Amino acid sequence: MRHPRAHDVDMTGNPYHCVVASWQQRGACVPGPRAATARVLIAGDTHGNLDWIGTLCKLAVRHGCEGIIQLGDFGLWPNMRVLRSENRAVINHGWLTAVAERCTTHGVWMRVIDGNHDAHPLARDAFPVDDAGIRSLRDGVLDWADRGAVWTWCGVRFGALGGGVSIDRQSRVEGRSWWPTEVITGEQIDALEDRAGAQGLDILLTHDSPVLPGSLRPLSDPVMAADCARSIRCVIDAVARTRPTVVLHGHYHVGHRAVLDFAHGSVRVDGFASDEESHDPHGRSWGVLELPSLGIVDAWR
Ligand SMILES: [Fe+2]
Repeated sequence: MRHPRAHDVDMTGNPYHCVVASWQQRGACVPGPRAATARVLIAGDTHGNLDWIGTLCKLAVRHGCEGIIQLGDFGLWPNMRVLRSENRAVINHGWLTAVAERCTTHGVWMRVIDGNHDAHPLARDAFPVDDAGIRSLRDGVLDWADRGAVWTWCGVRFGALGGGVSIDRQSRVEGRSWWPTEVITGEQIDALEDRAGAQGLDILLTHDSPVLPGSLRPLSDPVMAADCARSIRCVIDAVARTRPTVVLHGHYHVGHRAVLDFAHGSVRVDGFASDEESHDPHGRSWGVLELPSLGIVDAWR
């Protein structure tokens, strides 16, 4: 499928032309730093919250960041108007264009991974994947590092492994607000390991975590607890097989830090809260990643 162009209309009949003109002026390129050093804003779950994404763009500029890495539950959702009126699930192009416009207005790019609350099948149908596992959502401004993607920025080897388990899935409707593709598969970990190769990774971006944040307890529902434990084991497996020194993740809506011991050495885990905690200046809904040092600056402190 081609990307929308000027004078197209989106799924709701709204014209694309104003925003398309602004973000396409950047030209077709992959988002990411171009120099040997960079600062990148790290953001936890955004849940389709366009206002919060606009604030993240401003925070990125204020703290000298070229762009934003978002850690899943981004908002790759169906167009609800089409879903209700035509009973047809299609990705919400108008919202993605609005995100691209926010980024362009502030001169930043954005790379996202997927979470459990994203419409993976719709987005995979809409946006082709490249050899690195990246799907361009809006050329040069916004893209999605799908599960198994690997790339290098500032000499740092990045990998992506989105996905997780929805603990509220019983209140959701399959194909509309929940997708079984949320679950991390062995094939996706294999693809990540294959792309990482003998060199491995320096940093792994995940939605779920290799460890339950210390402030949380396992769920009392045994089925759900087992599913969540399996998902954490998938992330642990991915860390063991790709050997990063840092893992950044979202999903749990709490900020936390941990250091885990693996056969290849210590791994620093940094978890980020979501837009829902953004009112709390100490909620750690975002931070600043410095490249190539991999240091995290909690700039809100
Ligand atoms: Fe999540």
